[in-house]
Amino acid sequence: MPKKPESAAASRLTGAPDMPTVSSEDIRQEIRPDIGSAAVAILSTAHAAEKARLAQAVGAAWFHGQLDFAFRAPPPDRPARPARPALRLPRDMPRRRAGGVKGRFALLHALSHIELNAIDLAFDMVARFGPQCPRAFTSDWVQVGSEEGKHFNLLAERLHLLSGQYGDLPAHDGLWDAAYSTRDNILARLAVVPMVLEARGLDVTPAMIDKLERVGDPDSADVLRIIYEDEKGHVAAGSRWFTHEIEKRALAPAETFHALVRQYFRGDLKRPFNDAARLSAGLPADFYEPLAEDYQTVNKET
Ligand SMILES: [Fe+2]
Ligand SMILES: [Fe+2]
Repeated sequence: MPKKPESAAASRLTGAPDMPTVSSEDIRQEIRPDIGSAAVAILSTAHAAEKARLAQAVGAAWFHGQLDFAFRAPPPDRPARPARPALRLPRDMPRRRAGGVKGRFALLHALSHIELNAIDLAFDMVARFGPQCPRAFTSDWVQVGSEEGKHFNLLAERLHLLSGQYGDLPAHDGLWDAAYSTRDNILARLAVVPMVLEARGLDVTPAMIDKLERVGDPDSADVLRIIYEDEKGHVAAGSRWFTHEIEKRALAPAETFHALVRQYFRGDLKRPFNDAARLSAGLPADFYEPLAEDYQTVNKET
């Protein structure tokens, strides 16, 4: 149960004789739900379509001023997830066939899984790090989370038109690992999630769009175009708040980024990079290029 808030308005409600009169606005503020609890409600929702619906509803409520800028519930370590799909280690995933309806379905299913995870990543950002950041931070990640909900729904609709649904195929386990390992470190979270994982989406999505066009699925290609444009904004939000936190701590931006990615990101930064999209999202090459060079060096040695 969320704890009862302790605020000036709450103490005024106790009726202490030297306190100002309680206004109806005070009472309204007291009973209004808060964005932190709303984010936790999304994280705690297991049903995929319901999680996506809630993400968009919370986004609308926040931007209509219907939620307090307060955080009355702590986020869970791991979000609730549906019973299906079965989660498997990447090495145990069946190989995706390149062409045909089955191949397209598998691609769109894998992307749906990433988007569902992205909803939780955005609202975990809100619930976990919102209390220590300005209000604009919360607004940015609520916007991101709401868009991830939209992305999941768009992909779910495509899966439905291909006679299936999210959960029909096994999906990657381990997408939450980066979130868990950075749960106490906002700089590491920003570096690894939006600036590495979401930036990777900018690299690979244009080729997926081309492929879907080539195999005669322009509607799925259009969905990926919408996602691609939105994802530039998600990377940009990550870069913006990373810079904000770096300046607050008077740290060296690129060097700190390199150290955090090496510490918290298991794996390599793979080429090719979409330099133009990355730069437009506030991610210059001196952030990611040195990490890719490490990857190449390691591979030459093995
Ligand atoms: Fe997305
Ligand atoms: Fe995203």
